[in-house]
Amino acid sequence: MSRLSITAYTFGIIFFLVSCSFAGFYGYKVVTHHLPKEEKKIEKYNYHFMLVPEELDNEYWRLVEKGARAAAKDYHIMLEYVGPKQANIEDHLKTIEMSAASKVDGIMTQGLSDEQFTPLINRVVEKGIPVITVDTDAANSKRIAYIGTDNYYSGFLAGKALIADTKGQANVAIITGSFIKNHQIQRVKGFRDAVMAEKGIQIVDVEESEISRVKAAEKAYKILQDHPEVNAFFGTSALDGIGIAQVVEKYKKQDQVYIVGFDTLPETINYMRKGTIKATVVQEPFEMGYKAVKMMIDLIEGQKVPPIVHTDTRILRVGDLPVSNQDRLGVNR
Ligand code: BGC
Repeated sequence: MSRLSITAYTFGIIFFLVSCSFAGFYGYKVVTHHLPKEEKKIEKYNYHFMLVPEELDNEYWRLVEKGARAAAKDYHIMLEYVGPKQANIEDHLKTIEMSAASKVDGIMTQGLSDEQFTPLINRVVEKGIPVITVDTDAANSKRIAYIGTDNYYSGFLAGKALIADTKGQANVAIITGSFIKNHQIQRVKGFRDAVMAEKGIQIVDVEESEISRVKAAEKAYKILQDHPEVNAFFGTSALDGIGIAQVVEKYKKQDQVYIVGFDTLPETINYMRKGTIKATVVQEPFEMGYKAVKMMIDLIEGQKVPPIVHTDTRILRVGDLPVSNQDRLGVNR
């Protein structure tokens, strides 16, 4: 063998070995943590999933994440939780796009609007990456399944609760997370339909909070200025009721103004215990996260997955608050 061919041969072997180690590393999703050399633990994951919420640090979404992480631990899944720091549709779409480009095994996200999310979800699914919508459905897309609240029904329940608690007499203002997102539109629609036939109930104003507690408070303040006749509020996303309650307490109107909110975050429960928020719509974010991961595994492994799984939703009033076992409500999560 000439010197040249020996060198070429050696190079070939080195190249082959390097390629194999890369393939091993990436192909089998082996992840090593930064432990001292001899203790280096190798964790093998069955699949790699992404959970993309509309707002990363939102307390409600942290509960969905918690559920998803619990399932990821039980079933050896590598789970990444990524998304916009503050609600932002462009960033949300970009994150889904990037997750798909990195060829993960499955994406769990919201189907926030038909116009923007449906074409993207369709493209991702056509590329072979399954998408499950969580919390908010894009029912006309090719998503494989939806898990979350029946958003129309939850709004309807809020309307019925308000009728019962105000004896059918109220001038209502609605503060909604968004005018263009599917779940918020459905909650408002359900509420409107529930109160429609009630002659004593008027919906005086509907404002948008962009799911921000501060904006919800600003809107509540403006509503009370512009419409002093308002004596009831419906907040349709997790922080809206809290923002409304802040303003109502500030102006000492707790006894004149009825509030029905959404979700059971600790601050909401505190406002309920003080009697400022009278009722709230319960959702099951932990369960949504847990089951979404399990459904994704099932469908990748060829099992039948129902296209729609509605998690429980119901009204919680001050009198229903458990003294102990607050964990189910997310208070201690
Ligand atoms: C909704 C979530 C939303 C959150 C905002 C919840 O009620 O289900 O989709 O992101 O409120 O705080």
